[in-house]
Amino acid sequence: MKIVSVVGTRPNFMKTAPVQAALAARPDDFETVLVHTGQHYDAAMSDIFFEELGIGPPDHMLDVGSGTHPQQTARVMERLEPVLEAERPDLVLVPGDVNSTLAAALVAVKLDIPVGHIEAGLRSFDRTMPEEINRVLTDQIAELLFTHSPEAARHLEAGGSDPATIHYVGNTMIDTLVALRARIEAEGAVAKHGLEEGGFVLVTLHRPALVDGPLLEEVVAQLGALAQKIPVFFPAHPRTQKGMERLGAGGEPGLEIVDPIGYLEFLSLLSGAAAVLTDSGGIQEEATFLGIPCLTLRDNTERPVTVEMGTNMLLGLRPERVAELPALVEEIRGRQAKVPPLWDGAAAGRIVEVLLERR
Ligand code: UD1
Repeated sequence: MKIVSVVGTRPNFMKTAPVQAALAARPDDFETVLVHTGQHYDAAMSDIFFEELGIGPPDHMLDVGSGTHPQQTARVMERLEPVLEAERPDLVLVPGDVNSTLAAALVAVKLDIPVGHIEAGLRSFDRTMPEEINRVLTDQIAELLFTHSPEAARHLEAGGSDPATIHYVGNTMIDTLVALRARIEAEGAVAKHGLEEGGFVLVTLHRPALVDGPLLEEVVAQLGALAQKIPVFFPAHPRTQKGMERLGAGGEPGLEIVDPIGYLEFLSLLSGAAAVLTDSGGIQEEATFLGIPCLTLRDNTERPVTVEMGTNMLLGLRPERVAELPALVEEIRGRQAKVPPLWDGAAAGRIVEVLLERR
């Protein structure tokens, strides 16, 4: 069975790497081809992950780069078509919910190639988020729906998916964390940055709703105030850096804003943080797995399981709530948090089993 996996952005690399490894471990059954759309292209947003995760280099690089959403989606489609025509795989695998995910899935189905969606069935029910559109549409056209969240099957069936196409396999992003745990622990990033174990707040923010508009200035001011109480370490996404440059924001004592960092360094910091403040989807999951209090600066989450069972709390899109952080972290620590079922490091193996059965 020939399988083309298409990735494009930072979180996709961690979701796909374990699946690539599990497929490559069975060379008699599978031939794998990896395509990188180039949606993320800076070395710190892309190359470092291929090196650390041991998945690179990709067999095809489409170099689509940045653009408006329609431009980016269209560019992936135009450039992927000849690759899929030449490779003629039996299946195209796409992870997550970014523009590259939907674009690749659309090209595949239009060429009559079946699609498997890793991380199917997540819903924020907020259609102003581009990711929600990408999720809904990718799930509609995929014929293998790999889920990692208990409520996903319900969402998929409500959208008309055949239950026989839905497979609860677990979380491949957590597979990566489990596989690299020893290297994450050896990384020692907390000490390297002069921080103390359990004595700082890690921050990541990159969603347009927060960083492309006036809320960013308010968040940075709140982070500056928080940094008076506890050190704040903030590796900033390029989109966020641009926003801060525009505003001339940052520079408060105790608030350290740095360039994007690699996977091992980030997970090493997350493991040693008192808490993480984020608007990322994947980090809500990683924090739940690690038992680190997570404060999510969004009105909604497509990952409610991390709130119901885990260490995640939704603050709303309300920067002023950053001031409550120390008290909220205490509240989360008092919870009996659990790790959702099948977030155990073996999800990719279950995907391979489904593929073998299908063949
Ligand atoms: C994308 C995804 C988002 C995901 C995020 C993970 C979509 C709609 N959005 O958002 O769901 O959570 O990736 O990081 O697909 N840029 C660089 N260098 C890079 C990449 C981006 O400088 O390597 C800058 C460019 O100014 C670009 C901006 O960041 O215009 C946004 O990049 P883009 O890929 O369009 O969206 P993200 O915000 O990264």
